[in-house]
Amino acid sequence: MTKRKPMVAGNWKMNGSLALVEQLSDAINETKSAELDIVLFPPFPLIPAMLKAGVISGSQTICENEPGAYTGEVDAQLIKDLGAQYTLVGHSERRSIYKENSTTVANKFARAQNVGLTPILCVGESESERENALTEQVVAAQIDAVIEKLGVAALKDSVIAYEPVWAIGTGKTASPEQAQNVHKFIRDKIAALDSNLAQGLTILYGGSVNEKNSESLFAQADIDGGLIGGASLKADSFIAICNSAKGTV
Ligand code: PGA
Repeated sequence: MTKRKPMVAGNWKMNGSLALVEQLSDAINETKSAELDIVLFPPFPLIPAMLKAGVISGSQTICENEPGAYTGEVDAQLIKDLGAQYTLVGHSERRSIYKENSTTVANKFARAQNVGLTPILCVGESESERENALTEQVVAAQIDAVIEKLGVAALKDSVIAYEPVWAIGTGKTASPEQAQNVHKFIRDKIAALDSNLAQGLTILYGGSVNEKNSESLFAQADIDGGLIGGASLKADSFIAICNSAKGTV
């Protein structure tokens, strides 16, 4: 069985500053250890500073296309050339505000892997989808869009982040049991196609994770760490969350 390593990722969204890079990177460098991957997703212009400060970083999105006439977009190869290792794809804010559908997200996933970035595929249901018992169907379809385009083997060099839309930025966290159920569903679904790959796959939980609830979430068998939004902008909270992930997978 492949051993998984916990990961805590910080998604700054459209927040942050050079001063915050300095503050948070100092704290991360003090808490870094071989038993935990810590990855930061600041806005594009702050990626070089974050990397220079010694923090593994990625972008919050990429363009799905090769370089060309796409005003305002950012090429994945440039992100990779900076020294970044990851990119988020399909974050719920990209899906809802910028109307990215699962086909676009699968194209971004493919483009990331083409240039050697590891995609973190974000999936999750809305509140009404959960109320209508559609959670598994929605999450499965979001993952299937990638599998149909690239085959299940493409998931080997990726991370999945389960982020229920109703829990993002709302303070309403999924309970550890609710989150574990969906994580197990995701792992079982992929295991039906490739069990070794599924066992080795890192699956993060995201949605109002803070230093008070992280320990019980990360203690769940199929939760391998977290994708942290708001709490990744505060060094104390983020470091406490990182520490609670050590030794949990
Ligand atoms: P939140 O955001 O932790 O502020 O809920 C998580 C995310 O959007 O990745």
